[in-house]
Amino acid sequence: MNPRARIAGLGKYLPAHIRTNADIEKLVDTSDAWIQERTGVRERRIAADNESASTMGIEAGRQALEQAEIDPAELDLVLSATTSPDGTFPATASLIQDGVGAVRAGAFDVTAACVGFLSALATGSQFIETGSYKRILVVGTEVLSRIVDWTDRDTCILFGDAAGAVVLEASDQGGPLSFVFHSDGSRADKLYAHGPATRRDIDDHDYHFISMDGRHIFKFAVQAMESAAREAIEAAGMKIEDVDLLVPHQANARIIRATAKALGLPEERAMVNVDRYGNTSAASIPVALREAWEEGRLHDGDRVVLMTFGGGLSWGAMVLDWAPVGPLSAAAEPAHATASGS
Ligand code: ACO
Repeated sequence: MNPRARIAGLGKYLPAHIRTNADIEKLVDTSDAWIQERTGVRERRIAADNESASTMGIEAGRQALEQAEIDPAELDLVLSATTSPDGTFPATASLIQDGVGAVRAGAFDVTAACVGFLSALATGSQFIETGSYKRILVVGTEVLSRIVDWTDRDTCILFGDAAGAVVLEASDQGGPLSFVFHSDGSRADKLYAHGPATRRDIDDHDYHFISMDGRHIFKFAVQAMESAAREAIEAAGMKIEDVDLLVPHQANARIIRATAKALGLPEERAMVNVDRYGNTSAASIPVALREAWEEGRLHDGDRVVLMTFGGGLSWGAMVLDWAPVGPLSAAAEPAHATASGS
């Protein structure tokens, strides 16, 4: 049997500074009541000047490594997902690799907007399931506050900064049972942020700010997450009622509730923390997963569905077989764990 990619450690980092809806009322024509009713967001975190995707990713990564009781020098690979990297290059993953002390590991970024973390998690799992690598750090980290136009009330109410991380370790239990990914690049203009190398014939002065057709994305989000979750659940040989916990991308509480309803699941079965952090793109699922664990909502053998959508447009879902986090017991060590990269 191939090794499984158990999640052995979970980490999160939230910048200390809180920006409330009342703070945003001072920036744009909006109200706390409107934001809460339409999005469920009450407050979000804002990175300090000396913080970035890499510094926050390092903090989240360290916490995940501590929980897994893994020496960073044992890591084979560091993957990072971000839409707000420290720079165009080097990869944010390389900065995190250095920061956590993963002296033997390779490192690269996986970029797919809000689908980035799930994409990186699936990528890392493959390295483990093929036997190539044994221990991988996967980080989702964002400083969206630096690509949000704080004079645009359509977008600035939604986003925040955060980092989350997981350590994957070869095991005979846990890890992904299935995943699906989809993309429709013909709708790239519905949700995007240009960068320094964007086409020069596009006249867009605020080239690096998030631009979004909110109503279009809302409808797309519910339909995309529902269909991806159904596909992944079927691919795992399960039924909807077998799902113990949904961990959706935290974009909007209404989107989460509507997706749970569309799947025929009670909304209490979905993890929600968008009220405290807003949409943190690639960081939202690992932070929500860590907080689900902190709240005692993850149990041995649970079937956990991660699902997400975002710029691309892109969307995807994954079913996890939940195994306890922490150090690998001798019993769980796969008999043939002789990975070529270790
Ligand atoms: N405060 C007060 N009023 C506002 C605000 C605001 N911040 N923003 C818009 N309005 C007004 C509009 O102007 C509009 O007024 P009108 O009726 O006079 O025209 C009214 O409120 C309703 O606007 P809608 O856009 O229809 O409001 P909706 O209920 O759709 O909520 C929202 C807007 C919250 C943006 C919603 O569409 C949404 O969440 N969409 C999905 C966003 C999303 O998930 N994006 C993912 C990004 S992921 C990534 O790439 C990082």
